[in-house]
Amino acid sequence: RLVRPASFGFSETVRALKILFVSPEVEPFVKVGGLADMVGALPKELAKLGHDVRIVCPAYGSVKRVGEWRALAAPLGVDVGPVTQWARTWETSVPDTAVPVYFLENHDHFARPEVYTGPWGACDDNDRRFAFLCRGALALCQQLDWMPDVIHGHDWTTGLLPVMLNTTLRDTPLGRAATVFTIHNLEHQGYAPARVVDYARLPWGEFRRDGLEASGMVNLLKVGLCQATKLSTVSPTYAQEIVTPAGGFGLDGVLRFRAGDLVGIVNGIDDESWDPAHDRALPAHYSAADLRGKARCKAALQRHFHLEENPVAPLFGVVSRLASQKGLDLLAEALPSVMERMEIQLVLLGSGDGRLENTFQWAAQAYRGRCGTQIGFDGRLARLIQGGSDFFVMPSRSEPCGLTQMYAMRYGTLPIVRATGGLVDTVQNFEEGQPRGTGFVFHAATAGALADTLGWACATYYDRPREFADLQQRAMAQDFSWRKSAAQYVDLYRWATEARTGAPPA
Ligand code: ADP
Ligand code: GLC
Repeated sequence: RLVRPASFGFSETVRALKILFVSPEVEPFVKVGGLADMVGALPKELAKLGHDVRIVCPAYGSVKRVGEWRALAAPLGVDVGPVTQWARTWETSVPDTAVPVYFLENHDHFARPEVYTGPWGACDDNDRRFAFLCRGALALCQQLDWMPDVIHGHDWTTGLLPVMLNTTLRDTPLGRAATVFTIHNLEHQGYAPARVVDYARLPWGEFRRDGLEASGMVNLLKVGLCQATKLSTVSPTYAQEIVTPAGGFGLDGVLRFRAGDLVGIVNGIDDESWDPAHDRALPAHYSAADLRGKARCKAALQRHFHLEENPVAPLFGVVSRLASQKGLDLLAEALPSVMERMEIQLVLLGSGDGRLENTFQWAAQAYRGRCGTQIGFDGRLARLIQGGSDFFVMPSRSEPCGLTQMYAMRYGTLPIVRATGGLVDTVQNFEEGQPRGTGFVFHAATAGALADTLGWACATYYDRPREFADLQQRAMAQDFSWRKSAAQYVDLYRWATEARTGAPPA
């Protein structure tokens, strides 16, 4: 099948590509955050364009065995550490597609349920675990005799892929593969002891400041940034932020150096899975044309959190990791005055920072009947919050892209966001009397700015129901599907392939 990419100036017809995704998370098998959603959804769209896409991920102890799994007959030898190690490879596919997903099982590295930590939060063997993932993914290509045109790595856990291909594997058939490295979040960089150079069997010559070395250690994210053929991040605004000292988390120098190879492509959403007209996690279905089911979702959400079942009170929802990046400390700080001044309800689902968990649990007690908190991870409840709330609160300090604001808009729930990263690229601010806007945007990362914006949203809801309804219609009419962005990724892959081989893929 032929594909015709539409951006970056390529317009000629090109042949289908072989693309390998290597990722620490894939929805619906294992998910910590939005990286899983992206890796579960983009390959689907690339496959629709005719490309041969496959995914490799670790078989953590907690991985959900969705669909049919079959073990490959031959064990997989992985050349890391002093002697070859072994993995059992499980093959399945992304649900409702023919996109293969290979899970690498190895007791020492992946038996634990945690993705990024070990028992009691330790993560001192992540260099070995993810070196194993990278080398294992490459060994699997060799074993299957399937040579990808492009290997697409995601965040620090896959930072060693490009350097492996640029050094020890450069003169093998696999060495022709271009690498694309996507930054989902620059805050997590994966610092590792220098021993990983030996462990990954890399030449010590790579342990230098423009390579593996960072303050005497190895920074796995930086390696990917230095060595990948092309780089991308998950929104155009974040691509601009990360090349500045304020947004670069110490890596802005490297990123400025590579700015000519870096593009920002906004994430899409899987709009088949996230569709209020069919979502099985919702007690009633609805669409922009008929929103009646949304009221039933709201009532169900109020019951779930033991809130007063009041159809009129505006309900604000939060679904988030409780990490400082997400700015929920601003909401915690604003909460007492907001709850006292405004007739609103608030529900929160999330986990992470212990102090924030406590604060929101305290709020559920202090404002009983108006405020509900559930600590933990719950995919179905996340969807009920998207469907049943009137507003979705996301006061992020930094947000590479953010998916939840897009889910909210698709569910007719107006996002209240801070103007940062992908939130700038996906939410249009509402201004009174103007026929535009899909949500509410504020700028200063302060509790006061957030409280004012919650007040503005609340006033719009109560006093300008026509404008509120128009906002909802506009939000629901946005096209956040992967279609446009998948075409941009195809162009990026082609760009990378040409740079790697000096010629279009033959
Ligand atoms: P990030 O990846 O930074 O966490 P995103 O907005 O890109 O932010 O994606 C978060 C994803 O994780 C969304 O699919 C969201 O629904 C999901 N999510 C976050 N916290 C929870 C939770 N506590 N329970 C269920 N899903 C959650
Ligand atoms: C990261 C970012 C988030 C982004 C997601 C998927 O987890 O924090 O903003 O949407 O990756 O790319």
